[in-house]
Amino acid sequence: MIEVYIGKIPEKIEPELLRELLRHVSVEKSRKLPDLLSILVRSIICRKLQLKNSEINFSNNLYGKPHLCNATDFQFNVSHSGEWIACAVDKDQIGVDIEKIEPIDSISISERFFSSEEYNNLLIKNRNERLAYFYELWTMEESYIKVVGKGLAIPLHSVAVKRYRQNYMEIEEVNSHIQYY
Ligand SMILES: CC(C)(COP(=O)(O)OP(=O)(O)OC[C@H]1O[C@@H](n2cnc3c(N)ncnc32)[C@H](O)[C@@H]1OP(=O)(O)O)[C@@H](O)C(=O)NCCC(=O)NCCS
Repeated sequence: MIEVYIGKIPEKIEPELLRELLRHVSVEKSRKLPDLLSILVRSIICRKLQLKNSEINFSNNLYGKPHLCNATDFQFNVSHSGEWIACAVDKDQIGVDIEKIEPIDSISISERFFSSEEYNNLLIKNRNERLAYFYELWTMEESYIKVVGKGLAIPLHSVAVKRYRQNYMEIEEVNSHIQYY
């Protein structure tokens, strides 16, 4: 079963607590302050797989997607945006994406990155709905790209959300057709 953990980075963390938390991540990672996402991932793995923090080792695929070494039936993926962090875990390959909603030029970005059907659907939305629709599609496509794990080796414009409703989406990629829940 897919589990999703969401957290908000607090504006202020007591320096002592931060130091204590960062003891649990590598020196390299701890330079990226505050790397609370790594701490979240490690705490989930410790709890779910009954491992000690020192027993956790990560590796990346060719495109940078991290995975837990020696655990084929435990997959995770993380995302961060603004002050929010998310981690999704499952037994199969998984991808998650969150984006902070900003007042961007959704029309020109969609024209560049979305399929013509998605772009046309965006155009017929009224101004109030357009941004939410844009971010919904964007995060779904990014999540798909992150499931596959090939990063931007899969161009966003080759991926199209065909149908979706709550908890269900159908994604079409040039040369493949996959359904995700
Ligand atoms: C790396 C990528 C997979 C996601 O990036 P993102 O949405 O900017 O960042 P997120 O916070 O959602 O995800 C980052 C995490 O994904 C993971 N990740 C890295 N490479 C990955 C890959 N190939 N597949 C899946 N996950 C990956 C890492 O854990 C990374 O965490 P880190 O930054 O702490 O190392 C990639 O698709 C990307 O760069 N997307 C940006 C798309 C873009 O810029 N389009 C043009 C905009 S105008």
